[in-house]
Amino acid sequence: MNPIKHVAIIMDGNGRWGLRYRNSRNLGHRAGLETVENIIKQTLKKKIKFLTLYAFSTENWRRPKKEIVFLFKLLEEFLTKKINELHNKGIKLKIIGNKKAFSKKLNKILTNSERKTQKNKSLQLNLALNYGSKAELINAVNLTIKKKKHVNEKNIENNLYTNDSPDPDLLIRTGNTNRLSNFLLWQTAYSEIFFVRKLWPDFKTKDYNKILLKFKRIKRNFGNI
Ligand code: FPP
Repeated sequence: MNPIKHVAIIMDGNGRWGLRYRNSRNLGHRAGLETVENIIKQTLKKKIKFLTLYAFSTENWRRPKKEIVFLFKLLEEFLTKKINELHNKGIKLKIIGNKKAFSKKLNKILTNSERKTQKNKSLQLNLALNYGSKAELINAVNLTIKKKKHVNEKNIENNLYTNDSPDPDLLIRTGNTNRLSNFLLWQTAYSEIFFVRKLWPDFKTKDYNKILLKFKRIKRNFGNI
C-alpha cells in the first residue's frame, strides 16, 4: 500500500454549483468553503502531512470584480474566524503564490496567520493564492541565478514556493474538467491524477476516502518497470 504524504486539490465547480442550486456563483463559493473545512478535517484524521489547495490562480483575476471581492472577503472571514481552531489542531498555514497583489489588510491577516501557526506539525496546509505554476518556475529560476547557483533540478526545487513540501503523491480535480490549469506543473511530474465529475461543494468524505484507497493500491514505477 502506498503511503500518502501530500494531497493536492484543484477545487473546481463552485460557480456552477452556485448557479444550479442557489442562483448565485458566490453562494457556490460559500458552499465550497464547507467542503474545504471538511477535507482539512479528513486529511488530519488520515494523518496526511501536507494538503495543497488551489484557491485563486493568477488567471482568476479575469473574473468579474464582484466575484473576486467576494472570494477575498470569504477568505478574510474564514481566517479571522477559524485561525485559532486551525492552530489548536496543529495546522501550519502556508500561502503559496504572489501575495503582493493583495490589499494591506489581507496581507496582514495572511502573514499573521502564517506566523501564528508556523511551528505546528500535524498538517501543513498550503493555500495557493494568486498562484500560477509558470510564474513560480520563472521566479525559482531567477532566484537560483541571483544566488549564483547552477540551474539544476535541486536548486530550482529549493526556490519553489513549495520548497518545504514533498511532491504531491496525488492530485485531485473536481468539476468534471480534465486539465491542470497552471497548478504545480513541476511538482506533479509523478503524481497520480484523479479527475472527479462532482462539483467541489458536492465532494464528500466518502468520495475523498475512495480516491485515497484507490491511490494506495496503484503500482507506482517512477519511470522504472
Ligand atoms: C473554482 O471553481 C474555485 C475557485 C476559483 C475558488 C475556490 C474557493 C473556495 C473553494 C472557497 C473559498 C476557499 C477559501 C480557502 C476561503 P469555479 O468558480 O471556477 O467553478 P466553475 O468552474 O463552476 O465556474
